[in-house]
Amino acid sequence: MKKIIIAIDGYSGCGKSTTAKAVAKELGYMYLDSGAMYRAVTLHFLKNGINPEISAEVENGLSKMDIAFHVNSSEGSQQVLLNGVNVEEEIRGMEVSARVSEISKLPEVRQALVRKQRELGKHKGIVMDGRDIGTVVFPQAELKIFMKANTDIRAMRRQQELLRKGQQISMDKVKENLESRDAMDSGRVHSPLKKAADAVELDTSYLQFDEQVSRILNLAKERMN
Ligand code: DC
Repeated sequence: MKKIIIAIDGYSGCGKSTTAKAVAKELGYMYLDSGAMYRAVTLHFLKNGINPEISAEVENGLSKMDIAFHVNSSEGSQQVLLNGVNVEEEIRGMEVSARVSEISKLPEVRQALVRKQRELGKHKGIVMDGRDIGTVVFPQAELKIFMKANTDIRAMRRQQELLRKGQQISMDKVKENLESRDAMDSGRVHSPLKKAADAVELDTSYLQFDEQVSRILNLAKERMN
């Protein structure tokens, strides 16, 4: 069986990351959460007071930033390191979520991260999730999935996820963040979120988690032959 690239794109909070992680584990593939990279850049900009509207500050900020992943294969977990520091918890908080779409629309940021994502996927055998993986990062990916789900269901799932991490956020606030990110991510000029023409659409509103993973695995096995 040949190694393939699996691109999973879609709206915020549809469960892309958990699904992608489970698919990767099952196939023995590498998993890459591209959203975590945009979140880490956002945290770096916030911490260093970088003004996203000043191109020289953005370029300078990017040049002083190193993003790496620390993978624990026995636990199947992945942690993001920003300049050597584990920022996994911090990048998932509302402060970063509220600003990430504004930072990820910057062409300089996208260029730097897309280069890194292509490098990480060059040997194939990878599942990558994000917004532009099937359209821009790997337009030649053998399998492209486009995930969507009802907004109320996404907000409920995200609120529970934040609660498990000790953050109590109202449903309205979570929903507002998902909707504003969807609007900004879909409406931006560079690499907007959109379904690739050859992507398979998966609505996860009423799907059990195992079912969504097995649908992707079945498609992946077809494409590997
Ligand atoms: O997958 P996520 O919700 O953690 O992503 C956070 C944000 O990062 C998302 O709202 C838009 C941006 N992003 C992007 O622009 N392109 C990607 N490939 C992945 C994420």
